[in-house]
Amino acid sequence: MTLGVRNGTIVTAVDRYAADLRIEGGRVVAIGAGVADSCSRQIDATGLLVLPGGIDAHTHFSLPFGGTVSADDFETGTRAALFGGTTTCIDFAVQYKGQELRTGFDAWMAKADGKACGDYAFHMIVADVNPRSLQDMKALIEAGVTSFKLFMAYPGVFLSSDGEIFQALQRTAQLGGLIQMHAENGGVIDVLVQQALAAGHTAPVYHALTRPSIAEGEATHRAIALAEIAGAPVYIVHMTASEAVDAVAQARARGLRVYGETCPQYLYLTEDHYREPGFAGAKYVMSPPLRPQPHGDRLWRALQTDQLSVVATDHCPFCMKEQKELGRGDFSKIPNGAPGVEHRLQLLYHGGVAGKRFDLHRFVQITSTAPAKIFGLFPRKGTVAVGSDADLVLLDPHGTTRISAKSHHMNVDYSAYEGMELQGRVAKVLLRGELVVDGDQWLGRTGAGQFVRCGEPAQL
Ligand code: URP
Ligand code: ZN
Ligand code: ZN
Repeated sequence: MTLGVRNGTIVTAVDRYAADLRIEGGRVVAIGAGVADSCSRQIDATGLLVLPGGIDAHTHFSLPFGGTVSADDFETGTRAALFGGTTTCIDFAVQYKGQELRTGFDAWMAKADGKACGDYAFHMIVADVNPRSLQDMKALIEAGVTSFKLFMAYPGVFLSSDGEIFQALQRTAQLGGLIQMHAENGGVIDVLVQQALAAGHTAPVYHALTRPSIAEGEATHRAIALAEIAGAPVYIVHMTASEAVDAVAQARARGLRVYGETCPQYLYLTEDHYREPGFAGAKYVMSPPLRPQPHGDRLWRALQTDQLSVVATDHCPFCMKEQKELGRGDFSKIPNGAPGVEHRLQLLYHGGVAGKRFDLHRFVQITSTAPAKIFGLFPRKGTVAVGSDADLVLLDPHGTTRISAKSHHMNVDYSAYEGMELQGRVAKVLLRGELVVDGDQWLGRTGAGQFVRCGEPAQL
């Protein structure tokens, strides 16, 4: 079986040209004029941009958190991702305290196996940095998990001390892995949370008011300093704050291998959302929290100038009904996280390309190519090239997308972007050469997603 994609405009992080594609065995085997002519099946991409499938480097499917479990599993989550043009999700397997790393990895492999509709890879959350965990990082890297998330927040659950973080950084420097950091000063935040609750401040807005941006800036600066001493690269996840971006920008200007990730919610939404009437602000309770507008403006600028490298989603959905409600009367009990895996590409195309903040190549870079390179998936993923997986998004730049919980495919009862009308529409999506999404139509298959091994992080 051969598939041809004809008459489209291929766009990668560096190229833009009119050409046809020939796909065989799930891979692109030829690009050029006429290469699709003899294919047994054809897709007409007239008027469409042919882009590499999106890579969401930060999702949480079926994550137990805050007394409940995130509402999308690998089936619903990766299907929603595909509807939005994201063909690969890098989810977080979790090692809890007292467990071996392998236990967490096996558990998340089992959650995905037979369910995922799109391709997936894993980072590993390390809650217990001890000699055994440090030793076992080697086996995880050999199994295709090369990035390890540590926390400077959530004392008693996930938080690691500076000494533990430093040892993990030294180990990745030795092995060729990558530490990802949740950079917020959890000790300070915990005190502020207890003080707010003692003063009777229980509403969702106090989630933001007890997690000041400087607590993110301080932790980001500390994470970078620890990485520099260890001689290791470091990747700061879900960045929201100007102070934190400044720290990453200064480090990168000094030539350090420091990467920053942000998410659409921090680009589009602000702290004011926590003040929506009643308990509605709970929709936006995530950590770090939404910030005042100037922080969002700084994030957009940092994406333009490569001070930030990646846009992922931190997709971690909890329904308002029964899940977010756990924190009614105590903001600290609202499960942290928000949905977003479905609309990352459209939000970034709209605000970035249509909004004239950056060009199509930069759009492809931050949504696909950079995460593929940083997490060692390139060139199998993250570009349109001969030999690469035929993961393709056919994007209609003149179409529009309207976001609503009534029509989205995520298993959650609200959208943080309800009613937004965006420039750009995902017309068709191919996963390893299979047409899985055609407009509103689902043509994919539960369980068709494959585990993809990450390799050594590339230098960017
Ligand atoms: O609020 C968030 N971000 N929930 C998911 C867990 C994490 O820290 O990424
Ligand atoms: Zn985090
Ligand atoms: Zn996360």
